[in-house]
Amino acid sequence: MEIRTVGVIGAGQMGNGIAHVFATSGYDVRLNDISQDTLDRAMALIEGNLDRQVSKGRLTAEEKAAALSRIRATTDIAQIGATDLVIEAATENEKLKHEIFRSLAPHLAPKTILTSNTSSISITRLAAATDRPERFMGFHFMNPVPVMQLVELIRGIATSEETFRTLEGVVERLGKTAASAEDFPAFIVNRILIPMINEAIYTLYEGVGSVQSIDTSLKLGANHPMGPFELADFIGLDTCLAIMNVLHDGLADTKYRPCPLLVKYVEAGWLGRKTQRGFYDYR
Ligand code: CAA
Repeated sequence: MEIRTVGVIGAGQMGNGIAHVFATSGYDVRLNDISQDTLDRAMALIEGNLDRQVSKGRLTAEEKAAALSRIRATTDIAQIGATDLVIEAATENEKLKHEIFRSLAPHLAPKTILTSNTSSISITRLAAATDRPERFMGFHFMNPVPVMQLVELIRGIATSEETFRTLEGVVERLGKTAASAEDFPAFIVNRILIPMINEAIYTLYEGVGSVQSIDTSLKLGANHPMGPFELADFIGLDTCLAIMNVLHDGLADTKYRPCPLLVKYVEAGWLGRKTQRGFYDYR
């Protein structure tokens, strides 16, 4: 199946990055959010990130203008239904994702492929609540989307081979690399990455090292581009906690117990860069 139009639901940090890369690869994009403010902020961010690519010589000014003209921002979810491919990129909350797919259902064209950019939630369960589990997949981009090369493709139990092949083709056209993961809690990247971050938080909690010494250790001792606390603040501590909870509930193993310090930060509303405060202070 040929994909020409893409509907992205959720204009937060993942949604705006996804809209950006689809638009620069020639797809027509409809970017949806319930909040006009979030959409306005997303369009400004996309423009800023496109400018960055122009200044680095990766895009021309004409390509930037063409990409921007391909993105239509809308608060009306009905406008997403007629696209060839929908990518849900809302908050990591299963109930909310079900609600979104439910409100989209009456507007959907029969051919539309549905995907979720969830970083941990069962694709099979999300798919089962729609009318098209065979045309439903996990389509997991990494942050920052315009920079990171990987896209995880996760088949639900009912996903058809045609759907999988179609999305493999889309990833190729985006100039990214696909890795296929089975549908188990948090798939591949986050099954490994988020427990590493959780362990770094335990290392802090138990007084083994400070935020700075742990970050420096991983950056200079293991060549990570960001230390675990910089990365946690970048991903969002609420997202890190949501993923640890999915791992803990889904695999029933105490090794996935979220660190109480992570829980406390989230309860305080210290969610990382997006709230100006996490393990670092950005104010
Ligand atoms: N849009 C476009 N370009 C961007 C960008 C954006 N949002 N952010 C950074 N860039 C570009 C910069 O322009 C720069 O381009 P050049 O190579 O052409 O110079 C390049 O990316 C590097 O950026 P910077 O020089 O500003 O900064 P940096 O060298 O410190 O790199 C980084 C920033 C790419 C974020 C790097 O620190 C990094 O790779 N960090 C790790 C990110 C990571 O692990 N992401 C995965 C998170 S987990 C996830 O996403 C899964 C999940 O579900 C939670």
